[in-house]
Amino acid sequence: MAIPRDFINELIARIDIVDLIDRKVPLKKAGKNHSACCPFHSEKSPSFTVSRDKQFYHCFGCGAHGNAIDFVMEYDRLEFVDAIEELAGQLGLAVPREQGTGKRPDQGLSRDLYELMEEANLFYQSQLRQHPDKKKVVDYLAFRGLSDEVVEQFGIGFAPDGWDGLLGRYRQNQAAQDKLLTAGMLIANDNGKRYDRFRDRLMFPIRDRRGRVVGFGGRVLGDGTPKYLNSPETPIFHKGNELYGLYELKQKHRDPQHVLIVEGYMDVVALAQFGVDYAVASLGTSTTAEQFQLLVRSAKQVICCYDGDQAGRDAAWRALETALPLLKPGDQVKFMFLPQGEDPDTMVRKIGKEAFEALMHNALLLPEFLFDTLSNNHGSDKGALAKQAISLIEKVQDTVLQNLLLENLAHKLGMNSSEDLKKKLGFAVNKAKPLNAKGLQGRGTPLRLAIALLVQNPSLGFGLIEQPALERLQMPGIELLAHLLEITREQSLNSAQLLELHREHEQKSTLTKLAQWDHQVADENVLPEFKQTLIWLNNQYIEQLYQELSLKQTLTKDEKIQLTKLIAIMKGTSK
Ligand code: CTP
Ligand code: MN
Repeated sequence: MAIPRDFINELIARIDIVDLIDRKVPLKKAGKNHSACCPFHSEKSPSFTVSRDKQFYHCFGCGAHGNAIDFVMEYDRLEFVDAIEELAGQLGLAVPREQGTGKRPDQGLSRDLYELMEEANLFYQSQLRQHPDKKKVVDYLAFRGLSDEVVEQFGIGFAPDGWDGLLGRYRQNQAAQDKLLTAGMLIANDNGKRYDRFRDRLMFPIRDRRGRVVGFGGRVLGDGTPKYLNSPETPIFHKGNELYGLYELKQKHRDPQHVLIVEGYMDVVALAQFGVDYAVASLGTSTTAEQFQLLVRSAKQVICCYDGDQAGRDAAWRALETALPLLKPGDQVKFMFLPQGEDPDTMVRKIGKEAFEALMHNALLLPEFLFDTLSNNHGSDKGALAKQAISLIEKVQDTVLQNLLLENLAHKLGMNSSEDLKKKLGFAVNKAKPLNAKGLQGRGTPLRLAIALLVQNPSLGFGLIEQPALERLQMPGIELLAHLLEITREQSLNSAQLLELHREHEQKSTLTKLAQWDHQVADENVLPEFKQTLIWLNNQYIEQLYQELSLKQTLTKDEKIQLTKLIAIMKGTSK
């Protein structure tokens, strides 16, 4: 169901983009605008600006730009609808839905999948309370030491043994069965016979950032294999993009200070039970770049927790390699290794929250872990160490971190400073590369200027008399101006709202470019310049009419009069 335009419009009107961004990226007032180092690329001097008048942001370094919704989408990595939900939530508003247009083709299907996943989730939870076999599950939970509260909080359930515990509920509903198959909850054998994927397992629902169940992890109740069975990739579940426990964490902490990444479902749940309620797990694979992005955006400090054995060290190293290119200024990543044979679940039960957190605070900083590992790998072979170090350091985008690592390396190699090192290696340190918005240099045509001025100052169009000439003028791009004039004439909008109306518009990219184009017109001249461009365009129309008439073989009486008038006007305007 679509979200009504008026609501989105209202949202942008009520959110102040300066406040919104300032909470995540502290801004400094700089003239009319606010600025900061860009959160979307690495830089030392601020080229990210936020305009309160226009209600949008723009980075002169990397070209990132947009309104409040774009910011939330980019910064929090949310989909459009989720970004709307997030902003509405901040204002305490519920998002209304309307029937009808604007549906993506698969939205109907996805919606059904989410509903069915939630039904499955409720079914598994109910089985924990009422299935005849429930005792063995309750016993297992007790054996693992899980409290009722934490079982409830994470929505843990039970998939009963048998082929059709879940399937049986949809005997008469072929369509639902088909969807459950798509959602990975059923499996079809070679004969097309369908049966439950999850049987006789403890069920951990995996929620997306909006709290919707998108998949499950199922653990055997004892020692069988495979120990865990997970949902396959489906239209709504991409395991590399999700983190188990992130939704539950965000329910507890709006703005967590730190987040701990661990390997298992049980670890997340046990840690939460013991008060370490800011842990998440990657889903049975090494942490992906997408998951890392999510983590560093969730909290400034990310602590990666691994077993102390070689497998744990290897996993940590893979995580480090994934993280290096993604780190932004101020991100802190630490690595923590547990004693042999322990995992976070057993550890926190043994030593409790405080001691566990003490271990966490003593975790290795990323550069320490990096150089420890390199030293272990290469022993006294400094050449090999330098080679591997450089190949890693080159990947770092954050110049501050990069220099820090170079300093560290220089020290390791017994050099005085990283400057020597850089010279010796001919090392090109990353420099922020300003991207020039293509084709936007120079003043452009009057039409372009008119559109830019209007997009940046929609009030110019408010109440403006109709411009019939523009409707008839033949000039590439004129329809866009006519269209914008029509919209801004009727309603008072700011730039962010006007752009929002064009999120799906075919000319969206032109509009966003012009919204940030530095047209070099001083504030006090904006209105007169804009009028000038309209006059110029009207004159173009007169010229067009004149051409049309003068090319005709014979003119009617009216046309002759019109031509005479046109010539008079043209003489008058070309002085
Ligand atoms: N995993 C998996 N499939 C398996 C084994 C493990 O997907 N066959 C994933 C699960 O996400 C699991 C994580 O890897 O949570 C860590 O595995 P492991 O350490 O073996 O499990 P624990 O979470 O510690 O579970 P338990 O304490 O119940 O053994
Ligand atoms: Mn475990």
